[in-house]
Amino acid sequence: MKKVITYGTFDLLHYGHVRLLKRAKALGDYLIVGLSTDEFNSYKKHKDAYTSYPERKYILEALECVDEVIPEEDWDQKISDVQKYGIDTFVMGDDWKGQFDFLKDYCQVIYLERTPGISTTKIKDDLK
Ligand code: CTP
Repeated sequence: MKKVITYGTFDLLHYGHVRLLKRAKALGDYLIVGLSTDEFNSYKKHKDAYTSYPERKYILEALECVDEVIPEEDWDQKISDVQKYGIDTFVMGDDWKGQFDFLKDYCQVIYLERTPGISTTKIKDDLK
């Protein structure tokens, strides 16, 4: 079984997120999402999610393309996650291009084209 992992906050789940997740799943058989915890968002990423971690997890688990959601609590956990979960392919949107190439020693690394015109930040700004 080919296992794929991706990471993110996935706040106010939108079209761009679902496109990313569906394409990630299509690269293998089992998709794990490393979902940023509220603490990680606040203290490390310096952006607060509108929706809480348990609610974002609940929404992602309702998607057919998502098989498992694990907490992302630190920038440095990716190598150990790849080893622990036996990951074949690591996927991120191409806004992160090059930033996770160090994982190529452990698994395949793929950056997928980001869907233009939509982001959580844009939704929040538009609703202001
Ligand atoms: N993503 C995407 N297309 C978009 C928005 C996000 O492919 N239009 C991807 C990102 O590249 C990332 C994943 O979805 O791999 C999770 O992104 P996240 O940062 O949670 O979503 P954004 O909408 O980019 O949130 P923000 O505006 O807060 O940065």
